[in-house]
Amino acid sequence: MAEENVLTGFWSLWTWIISVGLILSFLYLLHFAKRIKGSDSPDRKMHHTFDGIEEYDNPMPKWWLMLFYGTIFWGLGYLAVYPMGNSQGLSGITNISRLEADQQAHQEKYGPIFEKHAAVPVEELANNEEAVKIGRRLFLNSCAVCHGQDARGGYGFPNLTDNDWLYGGAGDTIKTTIMGGRQGMMPAWGESLGEDGVNDVANYVLTLSGREDADKEAAARGKELFSNCAACHGPDGKGNQMLGAPNLTDNTWLYGGTLQRVKHTIRNGRSGKMPAHQDLLGEQKVHILAAYIYSLSNK
Ligand code: HEC
Ligand code: HEC
Repeated sequence: MAEENVLTGFWSLWTWIISVGLILSFLYLLHFAKRIKGSDSPDRKMHHTFDGIEEYDNPMPKWWLMLFYGTIFWGLGYLAVYPMGNSQGLSGITNISRLEADQQAHQEKYGPIFEKHAAVPVEELANNEEAVKIGRRLFLNSCAVCHGQDARGGYGFPNLTDNDWLYGGAGDTIKTTIMGGRQGMMPAWGESLGEDGVNDVANYVLTLSGREDADKEAAARGKELFSNCAACHGPDGKGNQMLGAPNLTDNTWLYGGTLQRVKHTIRNGRSGKMPAHQDLLGEQKVHILAAYIYSLSNK
């Protein structure tokens, strides 16, 4: 794994050129500025006046110069002792060895905690305060960008607190979702049903959750067309968690429940993607995350 973290030769050289170049340019600047000799003669005056105050072009104070030289030598010393880019400093430390030491310390500190929690089933772990706290931190880092800080989701991102599941809410199912990711596949029906068909079946879908705003006549025609949908959403529209096909009878919407939004979904299809996190986080962290998610809707 170390190899992946090494800077390429070019970038390593680049950091060296910038660092050493900057230090040398400071030295040159000081050398250049030091040549100015102090004097009170009028021709040593700078050519500007502020509110009648004039300025002499005087040499820099000694203490200030010494401080500046000091920082330069400190910088050179630091460069020699500590690692930069691919190179090892006089101290024998490299950036890679530092990273590995950090990772090992992290593993020694948290490894046993993760291991202990990994042995407990997800549903049971959801009652463990420490695990839920770790899970929440992991969630904020890796999941909140999409599902929101409070896990209530948003347009296209499911609410994880409502016990209404696309793929199922058992502990191991949640874990499978996070490990391997999920890909929803709702086909587009605009071409095969036509705009009238889309309108009819959309109105029928609204009636499934008892919506009064649905056009009853259109819905009656749409009921016939729903045979196209039953394979995935079930004959009664209650969905199928094997396919991630949502329950259409609960008035909870992933993509919005206005007639316009439902028509858009049916006409153009949808393909929500939950990314896999197995490689990013490792199974032990995912296990704790699953417990946190489970705890949100099972108080
Ligand atoms: C890039 C955005 C994104 C990130 C990051 C993300 N998710 Fe998701 N997640 C989604 C989408 C989109 C879906 C819905 C997939 C679908 O429509 O089929 C989803 C679905 C889920 C589901 C299934 C919900 C259900 O109703 O069955 C769970 C559980 C879940 N995510 C948990 C997590 C956790 C935990 C993390 C952090 C490790 C995470 N997600 C990170 C976008 C994301
Ligand atoms: C091949 C399986 C499949 C078929 C057939 C199918 N759907 Fe879907 N449908 C899905 C999936 C999967 C989703 C979730 C998409 C996602 O997660 O991005 C979905 C989502 C939806 C949604 C969005 C629900 C929400 O909460 O926003 C509506 C509405 C919908 N389908 C209606 C229909 C209608 C009406 C038909 C028939 C004309 C139909 N579907 C046919 C699989 C299917």
